[in-house]
Order: sequence, then structure tokens, then C-alpha cells
Amino acid sequence: MKFTFYGHACFAVEVSGKKLLFDPFITGNELAKNIDINKIEADYILVSHGHGDHVGDLLAIAKNTGATVISNAEITTWVAQQGYEKVHPMNFGAREFDFGKVHYVPAQHSSGLPDGSYGGNPGGFVIRTSEISFYFSGDTCLTMDMQLIPRYAKLDVAIMPVGGNFTMDAEEAVIAADFVQCNKVVGVHFDTFGYIVIDHDKAKATFAAAGKELILPEIGKTITL
Ligand code: NI
Ligand code: MN
Repeated sequence: MKFTFYGHACFAVEVSGKKLLFDPFITGNELAKNIDINKIEADYILVSHGHGDHVGDLLAIAKNTGATVISNAEITTWVAQQGYEKVHPMNFGAREFDFGKVHYVPAQHSSGLPDGSYGGNPGGFVIRTSEISFYFSGDTCLTMDMQLIPRYAKLDVAIMPVGGNFTMDAEEAVIAADFVQCNKVVGVHFDTFGYIVIDHDKAKATFAAAGKELILPEIGKTITL
């Protein structure tokens, strides 16, 4: 699976011939200033929760691409109220799409939208396809609910925050990786703001000491997972 990192918690993957974009926040991210949002393609945009650092460029990229926005019903209702109606509301649970099965799973966090609207409950996504299965936890602390994920998905990779302060740090993410039974983790939600600047070598060493791999992707680069 091709994985392109757009900074913070925004990334795109290509699976089953479809382009999935997650948590679009680019123009507000100084570290991602070389990314041109007008060049981003998407068939679907999946949104974990309502915070500005996850929806900042949602409407612009949705309008550019004509992608279907998948998120909790409160967020998709808000998106529709902003004039973009190609949305698919979910709540915690599972559903088949043309690229694979999506489980929208709980995250322990908060979810207010930038204009103060209620953003529903924050979540993450488990995506199961014929090619690959992966988990994007969204912003969350470590939760016991993560232990349910191996019951319905054998993960190839987990994409999880490692920046700490607002979410798990690397030490907690190692335990999360144990809970979801996945030894390959792509770290996101680090370095964007002063509160979440991390020591990359230390974070990787924390994973290596537990027999796990931490990939800290470079903004604008595409890797194969
Ligand atoms: Ni957040
Ligand atoms: Mn965030």
C-alpha cells in the first residue's frame, strides 16, 4: 500500500484502486508549507474527529476532489451545512465500502469543531481490504478498547500519534501496538507544535527496545507499507 504523509496526522493511502485521505490539515501547518493542497487527489476523505488540526483543509480538498467524506454523523452533518453534501455518516460500528471494510472505533479524546459546533465522539478507523489491513487511531490516549481490534482485524500496520501532550507519546504507543497486536507503527501527530516536538531517535529506540518498528514519515514523501 502506498502511503503519503502530508504532515501532522494527514496522510493518503491507495488501496483497492481508491485514494483515501485522512484528517486533512495542511495549510495551517508551517512544516507542510511545500504541499499544494490543489494537487491532492482523493476518492474518500476520512475524518477521525472535529479539531482544527484534523479538518482545517477538509472543505477545500473535498470541493476540489469531489471525494466522499466519511466521519461521525455530527461531523458529516456539519460538513453538509457548510455546503458540501457528498458525505457518509457513521457512528461506532462497521460497514463495507467499495475499497474494503471500515470499522469506526472509539478514541479517548475530544472533538469540538473549529466554529464551536459539537463534533460528536472522536474515533479512529480500522480498514480491512484484500491487500492490507491497517488501523489509524486518530488522536487518543491509550485505551483498553484497543484490545478488541485484533478480534476483527489482523493488522499489517498501525498509524498512531506519538507526540504526547494531547495524545499518546511513544512509550504509550508501544503499549497500544501490543494491544492491537501490530509491530509496525507509523507515528503521526508529532513536531507540528511546540507541545509535541519529539526526539526522533529516542522514540524509535523506545519501539526498538520492545521489538517493534517505528516509522516517522517525512512530509511530502510516499512510502510503501
Ligand atoms: Ni484532536
Ligand atoms: Mn490533533
